Amino acid sequence: MNERDSEIISQSLAEYNYIETMDMDSADLIILNTCSIRAKAEQKVMSLLGYLRKNKKRNPRLQICVAGCVAQQEGQSIIERMPHVNLVIGTQHIYNIATHLEDSKKKSKVVTSLSKNYDIPRFIPQTETTSETAVTEQTSSFRRFVTIMQGCNNFCTYCVVPYTRGREVSRKIDDIIDEIKVLVDSGVKEITLLGQNVNSYGQTNTVTADGTPISFPQLLTAVSSIKGLQRLRFTTSNPKDLSDDLMRCFRDLDNLCPQFHLPVQAGSNNVLKRMNRKYTIEKYFALVDALRSYRPDIILTTDIIVGFPGETEDDFEKTMELLEKVRFDGSFSFKYSDRPGTASVNLDGKVDEEEKSRRLARFQKRQNEISLENNINHIGKVFKVMVEVCGDNTYQCRATTNHVVHCRSSQELLPGEIVDVKIDHAGHHSLKGFVIGE
Ligand code: 5AD
Ligand code: SF4
Repeated sequence: MNERDSEIISQSLAEYNYIETMDMDSADLIILNTCSIRAKAEQKVMSLLGYLRKNKKRNPRLQICVAGCVAQQEGQSIIERMPHVNLVIGTQHIYNIATHLEDSKKKSKVVTSLSKNYDIPRFIPQTETTSETAVTEQTSSFRRFVTIMQGCNNFCTYCVVPYTRGREVSRKIDDIIDEIKVLVDSGVKEITLLGQNVNSYGQTNTVTADGTPISFPQLLTAVSSIKGLQRLRFTTSNPKDLSDDLMRCFRDLDNLCPQFHLPVQAGSNNVLKRMNRKYTIEKYFALVDALRSYRPDIILTTDIIVGFPGETEDDFEKTMELLEKVRFDGSFSFKYSDRPGTASVNLDGKVDEEEKSRRLARFQKRQNEISLENNINHIGKVFKVMVEVCGDNTYQCRATTNHVVHCRSSQELLPGEIVDVKIDHAGHHSLKGFVIGE
């Protein structure tokens, strides 16, 4: 989501003749697009802002802008703590960043926050890059993210998203389809649909011109049939309302990649309840079984929080049991941290940092072993991969399963090319192989 927001910021500014540079010290404008999901991410922003004081002294023309979730959460107080900041821009205002920057030049300080009646603007991406932006472009021009909805109404007790990104708003289906068609016509082969909880797409506002209700599986099916789109993914999905219709898409849609990120957070029903996740671990296991029956080769990843307030040693053992049972291909795991304004701040039974670190290390060690074991099982299989980075006879590619695959080829390959690779080596986080059928 933040990556896509950064793209939108740089595309909007390119239209106003701003030129991206990789050298922060020579910039006249520095934008920090920030994340506040966990305490650590926010601390990094504050220390980078402190560091930028000396850039401002050296170059008084320098404008410093804080965008994204930390901006939304902290608002005016950022300028109070860091007076060298010119603009603090909330999560819904990035589409007009150029105007806000002009304002901040005139008024010296500008702060924007969440709007009450928010509608995601129609945003058709630029498809032609100037020579300057092409040099610094970081995302592959063959894979793109498309936002389908913003915000979240779920209020998991640990989560700051409903406060920093606001309530759920879905984009109009026609705008989404138009945006993807433009991308595909310009050569994009892979699209990832983005939302905090894609399952509730179209549930809280009208997304069609005539008011016909549309569900996420219907949107996915419509996107999947766009001519020329070779690979489709989506993220993220809350297990509480994952429908059978959506799971069946993995069986029925040819270009939907066999990969699913399904955050579980914890293995204990007590903890899930205190997190307000609204599903039980038994329901989660049933979803995993159904997904694997529809798509046996599906790759499953998850998010885990350890040390949630009130998590006992017994509760944590249930998270370890969950890992043994599902054997996720990979996971993102975090120590719980208090986020401002969330309900879990007031829960009792806070787990001390040392214990959280111990639990996290234990979980990650076992996850790494399982990831490697699962990856070893892919040796000898053939994966369809898309070339992302070209080296000397070796290429960094991405498989439909989302594995990073390093492959050898006797013939030169080009970025964006899709080839078959036979896997002959497995690591914890990537695979190796060679191109077949040359
Ligand atoms: N503490 C720790 N991890 C968190 N996450 C969200 N909020 C917190 C928090 N307060 C994790 C969840 C979520 C992922 C994006 O970040 O696992 O799925
Ligand atoms: Fe946060 Fe995801 Fe829960 Fe929404 S569904 S509150 S984004 S963890």
